[in-house]
Amino acid sequence: MKNTALITGASSGIGKELAKIHASKGRDLILVARRKELLQALKEELVKKYNVEVQVIQKDLSVVGSSQELYDEVVQNGWEVEYLFNNAGFGGKGAFLDRELEADVVMVRLNVMALLKLTHLFGKDMKARGKGKILQTASTAGFLPGPYQNTYFATKAFVVSHTKGLAHELKGTGVTVTALCPGPVATEFAQVAGFGGSQMFDGAASAQKTAQKAYAAMEKGKTIFISELKFALLIRVLMPFMPLSITSAIIAKMQQS
Ligand SMILES: NC(=O)c1ccc[n+]([C@@H]2O[C@H](COP(=O)([O-])OP(=O)(O)OC[C@H]3O[C@@H](n4cnc5c(N)ncnc54)[C@H](OP(=O)(O)O)[C@@H]3O)[C@@H](O)[C@H]2O)c1
Repeated sequence: MKNTALITGASSGIGKELAKIHASKGRDLILVARRKELLQALKEELVKKYNVEVQVIQKDLSVVGSSQELYDEVVQNGWEVEYLFNNAGFGGKGAFLDRELEADVVMVRLNVMALLKLTHLFGKDMKARGKGKILQTASTAGFLPGPYQNTYFATKAFVVSHTKGLAHELKGTGVTVTALCPGPVATEFAQVAGFGGSQMFDGAASAQKTAQKAYAAMEKGKTIFISELKFALLIRVLMPFMPLSITSAIIAKMQQS
């Protein structure tokens, strides 16, 4: 395999679009998610259209030990991962104390622990080779207080913070790490998180455009990439001057809309 990307959450949404962009450049892929039939269908499409090599690995990355299993399978097959797209993730609506704690624990295992483990395992190999790119799908949620989707926002704050520090540590190694921070994107995310029909996703960005911008930002080696200008302005210019109580009230209203 050559110029291989491993993409978690490649069966739909942003991950699927990232896979298409990568393949369109003649680069090979390892597609990871739980729904094997969707990964298989994407593989067939990409092989036919771009004549690239695509491997499919079915894995529930919220299960303890699954990231290590994934890494071991990749290494045993002799596949070298040059691009790591840590993209799988999900959210969940509701007041923290009213939600089933287990659902939030599973969310932390996927959005934080799997990402952390995969970055550690593949990042070490990239550093040893002096070459590699890591794209972590965070969110604008990573900069904000998150009433009524609290654990999700906190997982993304982790990704933003971890990426900032890691990017500095990786300077001069040939490896870069980028956090993609989108606002609402039209994918399966809203349905999965319990936001079906929510106004928050009216006018959401397309997964295709988001992935295109993210891929370009990763290739440039940007550390933090907010994929829409209006959210970049909100977070970088306006928000630092807003009292926490007001920001929290706005977010709470959006999450309940
Ligand atoms: N859509 C938005 O508004 C938005 C905004 C900001 C950030 N994000 C982030 O973008 C990333 C991609 O989400 P998306 O919007 O593209 O939503 P999506 O269409 O729901 O895609 C989520 C992907 O994650 C995979 N996944 C979920 N649970 C998994 C598990 N336990 N193990 C392995 N894979 C799992 C899903 O595949 P299977 O179900 O087949 O496993 C799917 O491929 C997520 O990290 C999300 O937090 C989304």
